[in-house]
Amino acid sequence: MPAMAKSDCRKGQEPGRVTSRKTVSNGRSATGASTGDDVSGRDAPASLGERPSGGSSAAPPLDKSAFVPELFDRIAAHYDLMNILMTAGFWWIWQRGFRRLAGIPRGARVLDIGCGTAELSLLLAHLVGERGQVTGVDLSPGMLAVGRRKVARSPLGGRITLGPGDALRLPFPDRSFDAAASAFVMRNVADLDRALREAARVVRPGGRVAILELSHPPASLVRRPFLFYFRRVLPLLGTWAARAGLPVAPYAWLPRSLETFPGAPELARRMEAAGLADVRFRRMTIGVVCLHLGRVPEAPSARG
Ligand SMILES: C[S@@+](CC[C@H](N)C(=O)[O-])C[C@H]1O[C@@H](n2cnc3c(N)ncnc32)[C@H](O)[C@@H]1O
Repeated sequence: MPAMAKSDCRKGQEPGRVTSRKTVSNGRSATGASTGDDVSGRDAPASLGERPSGGSSAAPPLDKSAFVPELFDRIAAHYDLMNILMTAGFWWIWQRGFRRLAGIPRGARVLDIGCGTAELSLLLAHLVGERGQVTGVDLSPGMLAVGRRKVARSPLGGRITLGPGDALRLPFPDRSFDAAASAFVMRNVADLDRALREAARVVRPGGRVAILELSHPPASLVRRPFLFYFRRVLPLLGTWAARAGLPVAPYAWLPRSLETFPGAPELARRMEAAGLADVRFRRMTIGVVCLHLGRVPEAPSARG
């Protein structure tokens, strides 16, 4: 694996409406399923310090646990298309970066947390090869339904099992997987620290946790166009989407979800606090997206 930018700082709710949903009982029984720019991990702000979406700074705190699953249910049918539009195609580049850097071994049993429409699950299925197995869990039945259709059509589908499950209480015993991964999920969870602890819990000692997520570009030079995109371009896309009959909610939610999400060094610290070792991160696309990697320590006493 290529060298990673090491974190400078070495130390570093639950979705309602799903109580009646059946959850996956273990890693084998779920029903159903960039090339980035290298930038040093230094000096990323804890937040952008500004409201990227504009508007009042007195927005009330959001109850993600109720809001998020519903939002994704509503947008599921158009999620993949909007993903490509909103990321201007960079999604494929970030996927390439993940493939290159995440270090997912062949033959591994991997958990995809917040698998959504199974984009990452399909990529993971490719990485683990025919002896590997991918289990994807998500809170949104709508996203899972789209994911299952894609998995059924894919030649790699036999390696993937998708099912309902909450990142805050993963429905698997300790050490069920060789690795856990998530893409663009952690901004959405109601309790980030708990989600990180859960990811660490279900991975065997020595196994890897990989988190791909939007981040805060470190340099103000970069931050300006980034904010411009969030404030000016995304609303235009929202207007276009409304005219095209697509749901607009994600255009408002995306910048808001990032506002309170920690910068890359802080996320690395929190992964360490969750019990992960060797935490590193790699910025992609001038820091708009970041891949964090951690390892579950061999010694159980080192776990948080
Ligand atoms: C932005 S989408 C990303 C989906 C997919 N990982 C991808 O890369 O395309 C976020 C996903 O996280 C799911 N999600 C949010 N909170 C969750 C939680 N607590 N547990 C499981 N899934 C969650 C949402 O339902 C949604 O499908």
